[in-house]
Amino acid sequence: MTRVRFDPAPPLKGSITAPPDKSISHRAALFAAMSEDPVSIVNYLDAGDTNSTLAAIRALGVLIEQRADELVVRGGGMRSVQELDAPIDVGNAGTLMRLLPGWLAGQEGGSWTLDGDASIRRRPVDRIAEPLRMMGARVDANEGRFPPFSVHGAHLRGIEYELPAASAQVKSCVLIAGLVADGETAVVTPSATRDHTERMLKAAGVDIRCVDRRAAVGNVDELELERVVIPGDMSSAAFLVAAAVLVPRSRVVVENVGTNWTRAGFLRIANRMGAVVVGDLEDEPHDVPAEEPVSDLDVRAAPLVATDVDPYEVPLAIDELPLVALLGCFAEGETVVRGAHELRLKETDRITAVVQGLRQLGAEIEAWDDGFAVTGTGGLRGGVLDAQGDHRLAMMGAVAGLACREGVEVIGMDAAAISYPDFLDDMRALEALA
Ligand code: S3P
Repeated sequence: MTRVRFDPAPPLKGSITAPPDKSISHRAALFAAMSEDPVSIVNYLDAGDTNSTLAAIRALGVLIEQRADELVVRGGGMRSVQELDAPIDVGNAGTLMRLLPGWLAGQEGGSWTLDGDASIRRRPVDRIAEPLRMMGARVDANEGRFPPFSVHGAHLRGIEYELPAASAQVKSCVLIAGLVADGETAVVTPSATRDHTERMLKAAGVDIRCVDRRAAVGNVDELELERVVIPGDMSSAAFLVAAAVLVPRSRVVVENVGTNWTRAGFLRIANRMGAVVVGDLEDEPHDVPAEEPVSDLDVRAAPLVATDVDPYEVPLAIDELPLVALLGCFAEGETVVRGAHELRLKETDRITAVVQGLRQLGAEIEAWDDGFAVTGTGGLRGGVLDAQGDHRLAMMGAVAGLACREGVEVIGMDAAAISYPDFLDDMRALEALA
């Protein structure tokens, strides 16, 4: 496990291209695997989680060729998935674990087991097992709800499914199953969640009907994708944004960031707190578009004020909430996040991990069952932060170190390779690291 020290940094200056989007990369690989014609994926994320997805589809019989700046993926169509002797290893990737079963569930007569690392084995799959069972598949999970779990494919029938929690992964799983089910399959989410699945299906020629929080698809014979260009990842860019906001006198441009409104919640919250992040952010569209918008983000350091995060904003900033807590430590007043119980089900229990981690750095932060409240004290002392194998905690600790009085030593910085392998190089490019 690598220990890396992050010391108070001089003003950060420069431009960084955001790493490719993890969520969109997973979807591109899975939809390419379902396509009959070759699909070229440009700017696929080369990182732990998304490489787990490539390994999984390869094991299932998909051919993947790495060309200069693109992956060429040759799948076998909607209904050609190879059976395997060994479990599919999803590694640390929750998105792979929750999306792939939607496709497998519709492969009549086949069965597959999915397993992953220690963190994955603590993450529930009953949330996808329930709708897949309603559609006609059999899903057997450890203790009824954890990996390893097996999916037995069946002749699926469409359902109308109301998600108990706002989860893009569960929504996507059911929509994918709907592509190989009879009739119409519809999902209704309690509030808006990232809509990359809907957009990519639309780009692939699927008649996907989205009205308010309901998305519906029918059975399709084929996906017509041809070429997918992956935008930069807002969730990874958020660490650069937070660093530039917190280190006094910084000015950083983060290039090519995906600004889909369902992903830009963190920027809206940060700007409300006084951060100066200028970019071409997407407004909520009337109908689901087939494209993913991108923009450069021009970020300047600024003094911050506290904010209340509304529960409807939570899914739109879910992976960035640790950074909201960090910004809250530097803001004047009390920053409150509620309605975020889902954070407890991430790579770590991110409410406990963030609260304990930031407290060790001197923060005044309280945990609730569904969120936290941080009282800003104008800064942070610093200390040691154990990432506990969680990529986003490791990078939050690094950013904290650049802005704290005494710096931060992050235990387990190597976890960043799950989503952002070049994180330290990018920090060096901004002269944040000696
Ligand atoms: C993701 C959805 C979110 C997010 C995760 C990626 C996706 O999870 O936290 O990192 O790609 O659909 P939930 O859908 O469980 O909220």
